[in-house]
Order: sequence, then structure tokens, then C-alpha cells
Amino acid sequence: MTEQATAAGKAFMYTIGCQMNVLDSELALASLQGDGLSVVDNVKDADVLLVNTCSVREKAEEKAYSWLGRMKLLKRENPDIVIGVLGCMAQKEGQLIFRRAPYVDIVAGTAHFTKIDDYVRQVRATGKRILAIGRDEEVETERRLKARETRHSAFVAVMRGCDHHCTYCVVPNTRGMETSRPLEEIVEECKILVGEGTQEITLLGQNIDSYGKRLQPRRRTLSELLYAVSDVPGLKRLRFITSHPSDLKPELFAAFRDLPNLMPYLHFPAQSGSNDVLKRMRRGYTFDRYMELVTAAREAVPDIGLAGDTIVGFCGETEEDFERTVELHEKTRYQNAYIFMYSERDYTPAKDQGLADDVPFEEKKRRVNYLIERQREWSLAENQKHVGKTIEVFGEGPSKRDAARQEGRSPQNQIVIVGSGRDLTGQFYRAEITSATEAALYGRLC
Ligand code: SAH
Ligand code: SF4
Ligand code: F3S
Repeated sequence: MTEQATAAGKAFMYTIGCQMNVLDSELALASLQGDGLSVVDNVKDADVLLVNTCSVREKAEEKAYSWLGRMKLLKRENPDIVIGVLGCMAQKEGQLIFRRAPYVDIVAGTAHFTKIDDYVRQVRATGKRILAIGRDEEVETERRLKARETRHSAFVAVMRGCDHHCTYCVVPNTRGMETSRPLEEIVEECKILVGEGTQEITLLGQNIDSYGKRLQPRRRTLSELLYAVSDVPGLKRLRFITSHPSDLKPELFAAFRDLPNLMPYLHFPAQSGSNDVLKRMRRGYTFDRYMELVTAAREAVPDIGLAGDTIVGFCGETEEDFERTVELHEKTRYQNAYIFMYSERDYTPAKDQGLADDVPFEEKKRRVNYLIERQREWSLAENQKHVGKTIEVFGEGPSKRDAARQEGRSPQNQIVIVGSGRDLTGQFYRAEITSATEAALYGRLC
């Protein structure tokens, strides 16, 4: 092969982790498409095999390694295959990945994924491995739009990284310190997306409430950003995730009232209901402060859908601590909650400071199952409040299980299922809600 070897071929991407990773995969694939590759959805058809990884829990890392183990077999059959590991685990593990999986060609961290086209070309030209995990570089934010599966909904990253030090969390290590994109650049990108047919935009940030804090020549706020993006002509729905209870400003609730296209949905994880545990997690708020925010949100936006994340079995969590968490869920009345067992991670303050991961696995499991079971009742009760109402739904297409049904999203981001043989992808329609489960609303087209 020569230095000019092109990267043309077929690429497959397996994405693990959060919405930021979903977006990053899209941006990485777009850079490969810019180099002439096509994107395929079956590994057997691909000669560039990529995994975008997550390190937030041990299970997420195991998933990546077990997938890599399977890809090794494909590479044995076809040594020209290029295998790349991107994302948070790439950033955190670096060289270790080559040691554990010597058949990997590229390890590219969280600031390097858009250069994957160069890396694939270099590997093909030289046969040498590439490790790109330097932190000095800014993430290339220019968006190449070709790889998008659907143009109806889009993610837009507005800030990356996190300045908090929640003791359980590896994200500040994998994503680095907070950096925000200029407001004008974000608005411009949103205009382009809407011009191409996007009707719903979700703004992404690991800690989105502190958007704009270090921007020059002047600091910007999430509120300013929401008003500016909301103004993009033709944008029907705007959302943002994820909020931190210490940074969330109650003034933000005014935006929900003022901006008709800002959807009534707030994802602001509490993580625990126990003040002792919150302190050990270094979250910076108490049970009461969290409940004040819940009350303020519901007063300002009565139909708001609240979502949260919770970790059970964190270092030193007692039965009483856990009961406070159950109480917090009961009082908050989350529409949906993501509940996890604590998973100890390297490079986190908890591990570095020697906080013992001392809740036995069986006990963590009991607590997580109990809370998930109770949360089902509360999610069901929240969803049932919509029964009898007629709501506007944004269509996402035929249900995977039953093509005679269409799936879509309510303003609160609930899944809505209606009977219809017509493909309603990307359309707005009204549905009368006739029943609900803890996971979805069911209705009929009006
Ligand atoms: N930036 C977001 C999300 C961070 S990771 C935020 O601050 O809300 C997503 C979720 O994973 C967290 O909200 C937390 O509930 C969970 N999580 C993070 N670290 C974890 C760990 N070590 N073990 C189990 N769950 C964890
Ligand atoms: Fe992790 Fe806390 Fe930052 Fe969220 S706010 S990414 S949980 S350190
Ligand atoms: Fe995972 Fe990284 Fe997202 S650790 S949750 S993929 S920021």
C-alpha cells in the first residue's frame, strides 16, 4: 500500500453509553463518509469496525471488550479489517486496550473521534497502530451531516466535559473540563439542521446548566441559549439534557413558560435521597434543596415531566439512607428514573480517596430491584394522568414489534403508541390517550 491509500470501504459503528456518544458516533461516521466510506449496519459487511465506548459502569466496559473479542474472529478471517476503539474507555484506558486486545488498530479518545478518517487512512498506509488520547486538542465541532439516520430529530452538543467532582463518577476524567461552544455557532448549526428538515433538537451537555461559563468575550447562560435556539424559524421542539441540581437556576423555569417550543421535560438526577450519602458523593445539595427545586419546577410548569438518575449501594449506604432515596422518588413523582447499582471505577475521587465499596453485591441488587419495582408504580401513576387527554405527538415511525402501530413522543418525552398502518415518521399528529403503562401511553389518532 502507498501513503495515498484511500480509506474507502465500509464502516460499522457499535455505540455504547449516553446521548453524547450517540452524537459523537454520528460525527465520526460523517468524517469517514467524507473520505468516501459508506456506513453499514452489519459487521459482516464492514472492513472498518468501530466501537464508541463508555466507562461509567464496569458493565459498559465489559460490553466493549466482549464485542472486541468477537471482532477478533472476523479479523482473523480478513487481516485487512481495521478495528478502532473510540470514546470514554479509549480515553481512560489508552495503551491498556492494545495490551488486552492486541488486534485493535486505533484507540482514539474523546477529543479525537472526528479525525477517525485520517487514522483509518494511516493504519491502512503504514500498518501501524494509532493512539490518540492527548487532551490539548479541542473537539472539532464542524458538523458534516451525511451520516444522520433521520433528519427529523437531532442532538447538538453545546458543552462538553464536567467541572464537578462527584466522587463516584469517571466522566470528568474521560471528558475533561467543561468547554462551551459559542452561542452563535450553536444557533447557526441549529439553523442548518432545521433547514435540512430537522424539527426537534435536543441540546446536550454533561452539565448543561453551566453552559457558557467561560465563554469570551462574555459569559453566556443556558437561558440565553434556549431563547436564541428557540427562535430558529421552523424549529418545532427543543429539549436539553442533563441538569445538575446545584447549577440549575430556578429562573430557567420561566423559559418553559415563555418559549412554546421548549418541551416540558427536565432530567435532573438526584443520585440519592440521603444527606450523608449526598455529602460523600459531593453533590452539593440536600434532600430538602432538591425537593425545593421539584416544587418550583411543578409550580412554574404544572405539566412538566421529571426524570432522574439514582445510584443505590454507594459507599457506606445504610438501610436508612436507602429509605430516604425511596422517599425522594415517591415525593418527586418521576415520570421516568434510571436506577443503577454503584460500580466502583478507577480514576474517581471515591476510589482515589479509599472510600470503601462496602455494600455487598446481593444487597445492592435487592435495593435496586426494590426501587425499580416501586418506581414502576409511580411512573404508571404519572403516565395515567394523561389518560383522557388529547396531546400532540411527534412521530418516530412504525413500532418495531407491530407494524400496524406507530410510535412517537409526547411533549414530556413519553413514548406514545397509536394504531395506524400509515408511516407517521417526522409528522406531528394529535392522539387521544386511552390507556397507559409505566413505560408508554396508548391512544388513537384524532
Ligand atoms: N452528566 C450527567 C450524567 C453522568 S453519567 C449527570 O451528571 O447527571 C450518567 C449516570 O450514570 C449518572 O447520573 C449516575 O446516576 C450514573 N453513574 C455515574 N457513575 C456511576 C457509577 N460509578 N456507578 C453507577 N452509576 C453511575
Ligand atoms: Fe459525573 Fe457529577 Fe459531572 Fe454528572 S455532574 S458528569 S455525575 S461528575
Ligand atoms: Fe459513558 Fe462517557 Fe457518556 S463514560 S455516560 S459515554 S460521557
